[in-house]
Amino acid sequence: MTTSAPLPDLIRAGVVERFGGPEVLRTVRIPRPVRAAGHVLVRVHAASVNHGETKIRRGLVPELGPPPLVLGSDLSGTVVQADPGGRFRAGDEVYGIHFIGTYAEYVSVPEAALATKPRSVDHVAAAALPVAARTALAAVVEYADLRAGQRILVHAAAGGVGHLAVQLARHRGAYVIGTGRAVHHAFLRRLGVHEPVDYTRVDFRTVAGEVDVVLDLVGGGYGRRSLDCLRPGGLLIGATLDPGVTGEEADLRGRRYRWLGEVRTVRPLDVVRDLVDAGRLTVHVQRTYPLSDLAAAHAHSDSGRVTGKLVVTIPPPQPARIFG
Ligand SMILES: NC(=O)c1ccc[n+]([C@@H]2O[C@H](COP(=O)([O-])OP(=O)(O)OC[C@H]3O[C@@H](n4cnc5c(N)ncnc54)[C@H](OP(=O)(O)O)[C@@H]3O)[C@@H](O)[C@H]2O)c1
Repeated sequence: MTTSAPLPDLIRAGVVERFGGPEVLRTVRIPRPVRAAGHVLVRVHAASVNHGETKIRRGLVPELGPPPLVLGSDLSGTVVQADPGGRFRAGDEVYGIHFIGTYAEYVSVPEAALATKPRSVDHVAAAALPVAARTALAAVVEYADLRAGQRILVHAAAGGVGHLAVQLARHRGAYVIGTGRAVHHAFLRRLGVHEPVDYTRVDFRTVAGEVDVVLDLVGGGYGRRSLDCLRPGGLLIGATLDPGVTGEEADLRGRRYRWLGEVRTVRPLDVVRDLVDAGRLTVHVQRTYPLSDLAAAHAHSDSGRVTGKLVVTIPPPQPARIFG
């Protein structure tokens, strides 16, 4: 199915021109992607910033080839072209994950990468969800299978993945401990954290006691130190590129370790949407940046000082002004 409105031949996109810091990002015009079979062409209204994109920007994902590359993994937008008989049709509001290319006015995405957008939130909030909420869901439900009464320690609890994982853990009836600076403690308590721990003032191991699960969204030295607060048989979930610990090391200490890789949950974005629309999961967007300010959005993300999520908005092209 195709919309009747003509589509532009050239579109605006956020592009990595060479690998490096946020300054290598440019908003440029590129040819509009052509919809592939089995794909849906989406007019993107918003996309969020994830660490995966900053890694691509730095050249840490060499399999993608050399720049220029259009960045962006999350999207929320409107379908403009789809396969006849497919799951979606023109006009549907969708959100989803496409590894690369969503910082653009249009993107061609496999149908399976999309879900119907949550009805109760706008495109900005919907775009903030996919990668972070899918990761949080996988960690808390699929990997940890967290149960009522269990204790979980979430590192970087105020960040994109953490603030969603905290809410999911509470819904499962767990006791939640979260690391974050004191400036975030009121936020963490509102999310449902029972015990916020200011890691700049105390060693989290002295406060957390024995927990059943640690979700480590910081990595490095946190991995090994987190083993110290797990009960025997407890599970450490590492999600960062440098988890700082191995499965063998955890085994030797009678604990379990898993790196958060493949997600097997069926249609996780449908699950996330239903939780959001039921009012059981709320995404916090700290700030939006227009596509033209993509470098500033990435610089903010690189600072490590994000509360919830950052979202890149992609407004429709301005009509030509005839008067004044
Ligand atoms: N494996 C996967 O599938 C997957 C998917 C998504 C993300 N990830 C990874 O998960 C990690 C977190 O991603 P994210 O998007 O949630 O990050 P984020 O939003 O950038 O995290 C920002 C938060 O980190 C907190 N923080 C910074 N240093 C900290 C420390 N030493 N201890 C405790 N908290 C600290 C900050 O809180 P304060 O200001 O309070 O310190 C801030 O709120 C990244 O490494 C990312 O690559 C993995």
